[in-house]
Amino acid sequence: MRSYTIHGGKALRGSLRVPGDKSIGHRSLLFAALSSGECLIEGLSGGADNVATATILGAMGVDIHQEADKAKVGGVGLHGLSMPKAELDCGNSGTSMRLLAGLLSAQKFGARLIGDSSLSKRPMKRIVEPLRARGAHIAGVSGAKADNVYPPLSIAPLIEGETLLGIEYDMPVSSAQVKSALLLSGLYAKGPTVLREPVLSRDHTERMLLSLGVPIQSMASMVNLDPRGWTARWDAFHWQVPSDLSSAAFVLAAARLIPGSDVRLSDVGINPTRTGFLDALRLMGASPQILPKGEAAGGEPVAELHMSSGNIAPLALGGELLTRMIDEAPIFCVLAALARGESSLNDAAELRVKESDRISVMAKTLKAFGVPCEEFEDGMRISGGAKLHPAKVCSEGDHRIAMSAAILAMTLDGQSIIEDTECIETSFPGFVSLMQELGADIVETQS
Ligand code: S3P
Repeated sequence: MRSYTIHGGKALRGSLRVPGDKSIGHRSLLFAALSSGECLIEGLSGGADNVATATILGAMGVDIHQEADKAKVGGVGLHGLSMPKAELDCGNSGTSMRLLAGLLSAQKFGARLIGDSSLSKRPMKRIVEPLRARGAHIAGVSGAKADNVYPPLSIAPLIEGETLLGIEYDMPVSSAQVKSALLLSGLYAKGPTVLREPVLSRDHTERMLLSLGVPIQSMASMVNLDPRGWTARWDAFHWQVPSDLSSAAFVLAAARLIPGSDVRLSDVGINPTRTGFLDALRLMGASPQILPKGEAAGGEPVAELHMSSGNIAPLALGGELLTRMIDEAPIFCVLAALARGESSLNDAAELRVKESDRISVMAKTLKAFGVPCEEFEDGMRISGGAKLHPAKVCSEGDHRIAMSAAILAMTLDGQSIIEDTECIETSFPGFVSLMQELGADIVETQS
């Protein structure tokens, strides 16, 4: 097991680029694989989640060569994937499993998607049900809750003459993974895919499909992909993946909270469906400077972000804002712990079915550092500004909990230990060296 030993209180200073956006990386690889030529993708994170997607595409006959943050992908076209010879392992990556389930549901060969112990506990009815409704032969297995299904997912081929149907679907929960699974399967359907979400979730799939010439229209939180009359192909492309705002969030929080810090982050993706954390920082009186720098991969806006240390005010977070920063909820809890006054996290039931039960694990982590907090079914209340102390905590295999705990430790004088940190490789490879470069006293050990 890998652990971090952190001596906190060291100011962070410097300029850097955090690894590429995980969500955009998955989608760039998928759309390159389905293109009609040789694509080049630059700026990939190199994280294990994106690697899982690339490896699975390779197992279906796609030629992928990745070196450092670049991948050359030989697109096979929409109908060129071949039957994998073994189970397809998504590792820890819910995005790989849910997006690939959509794509595989439309194929004329069968496949089985498996995951690690954390992914095997994540609910899959949210994709299995609507995919079945459009004619897919997909099934999960029973698990913790009797009314849900879980990985592995088995997908039987569409038989000769069978085609997926159009679907009009009101999604009960906003989810870019569910939306993308349905849009990917919708590329092969004989009728339109019309989806409505309670609140618009990240729209990378829609932006990319639009830039590739797929007939897709979005309006507010509704999307309509109508493949009738479409050529069912797109050309090869060369895309640059922006830095991941969800990874940048940890560095921004640390820079705000540790006195004397001043950090610049380049090429960060600022897609408006992802910038809830920047809005939350503004509402907490801690807005970074945002310098727009044009566009990257498939119409994704990028910017340089500049944050220096300073005060932070409490915030009641929930609703639409939370949807736009769903992955930043754990690091929001750290900011709340250090803001003088009461903050809360509301409408956050989804956090219980992420890589861990993030409400419960985050509450346990905060309490270990002395933060008074109270967990409730869909959120928590955090009393900020209490006297905190270093601690020894375990991430429970969740990358965002591990990094949130590390940042909290960096704000406190004395030695903290964060256990079970290898999971950080899924999204933010090089986290330790990057923090060291900025001046943090953080050492990784293997036991
Ligand atoms: C993601 C969507 C979100 C997010 C996850 C990545 C994506 O999940 O939490 O880290 O790339 O589509 P949900 O779709 O379950 O909200």
